[in-house]
Amino acid sequence: MDKLEIHGGVPLSGEIRIAGAKNSALPIMASTLLTKDTVKVGNLPHLYDITTMLELLGCMGVESIVGEKLGVEICSEPIRHFSAPYDLVKTMRASILVLGPMLAHYGQAEVALPGGCAIGSRPVNLHLSALKKMGADINVENGYIEARTKGRLKGAHIFMDLVTVTGTENVMMAATLADGQTIIENAAREPEVVDLANCLKAMGAKIFGEGTDTITIDGVKELRGCEYSVMPDRIETGTYLIAVAATRGKIKIKDTRPSILESVLSKLEEAGAQIQLGEDWISLDMKGNQPRAVSLTTAPYPAFPTDMQAQFTALNAVAEGSGLITETVFENRFMHVHEMNRMGADLKVEGNTVLVKGKDILQGAPVMATDLRASASLIIAGLMSENQTTVDRIYHIDRGYECIEEKLQLLGAKIKRLPS
Ligand code: UD1
Repeated sequence: MDKLEIHGGVPLSGEIRIAGAKNSALPIMASTLLTKDTVKVGNLPHLYDITTMLELLGCMGVESIVGEKLGVEICSEPIRHFSAPYDLVKTMRASILVLGPMLAHYGQAEVALPGGCAIGSRPVNLHLSALKKMGADINVENGYIEARTKGRLKGAHIFMDLVTVTGTENVMMAATLADGQTIIENAAREPEVVDLANCLKAMGAKIFGEGTDTITIDGVKELRGCEYSVMPDRIETGTYLIAVAATRGKIKIKDTRPSILESVLSKLEEAGAQIQLGEDWISLDMKGNQPRAVSLTTAPYPAFPTDMQAQFTALNAVAEGSGLITETVFENRFMHVHEMNRMGADLKVEGNTVLVKGKDILQGAPVMATDLRASASLIIAGLMSENQTTVDRIYHIDRGYECIEEKLQLLGAKIKRLPS
């Protein structure tokens, strides 16, 4: 297994470009199952999860042509298999996103039931109950979700008990081809849901209210092909901003979208960062100062994202003062805390909160990545440590961050990949 070796203590400085959003690219790729036409998806990030989604579509018989400029042409007709196998689902939970489109377009789908993962139990009960309400016959047997519908799915009024991002996306995709109107209440308002809705609309779907907590979809008989470019990745953007703030550096980030990062930018300002914004760029300057510790609570968009919690915990670990980090979305998202304490951080978990007492610097150590965002936080911890840190199990990071060591090297970081 590859590792990353980091020699910390260097303030990061420079310019980088942001890739397309993983969490928007995955549902958009799954949505190509809703039409027999070709869909051209652009600005795809170069990531393992994207390759896994192409492999998953490929094993159903979907044809894809990968272009040179971060683009892919996907044509799902004729699909030959209606099954998402366990081997792929276990490496990428977002595979569940093929359920709604396959069921809506082909009337059948079999998807391995995703298990729990390092950050929590992560059930998909809300996806299933909503699709049942739309008339699907769903059984879970031998570890597989088997879903069928006679004729088209039926529009329904759906109230989501919890805000679920992929749940909202699955139901929204299924509803585009349903008979009649579907209303999703307590829908996720994440920008990735809006990006997916925009792509579906370009395919001819009738969707209203995306980006609010009530989404209305009027089903249409069929969708057509389109060209769509994936929006920039707000989590990648935030991760680099935090890495630079933690190392007291300076950065200009291009090809991003500041308007979808408000909660993160306001916490960075509270931590002492001087921030300037353009339409598609963000610059941040710490003026060489140590960040101040901040307190935050994760919650669905537009509140502070759970996918940035671990990185902010790392920043707090080297900040002036103390802060409280409260996680309300996933029940077990503090695995990085114990690794950071091995690097000399002073972090205490109490229930769903971490009490952080900032230190001037951490000490390098061998550490282990447990999930995607935890890996990013350990890299940030390594960048602000004295001596050497090695981060093991970095296959997690390759799932969600494009060329992370090259981008950090561009900012002056001393980081290299140690192949296994
Ligand atoms: C998506 C993102 C992930 C992000 C998360 C929360 C993708 C591919 N992944 O994950 O990066 O961390 O949103 O912003 O977009 N829940 C249920 N039953 C369900 C569905 C969800 O109880 O049927 C719970 C989950 O266990 C969790 C909470 O709802 O506690 C939110 O999860 P959800 O929004 O569904 O996360 P994902 O869509 O899997």
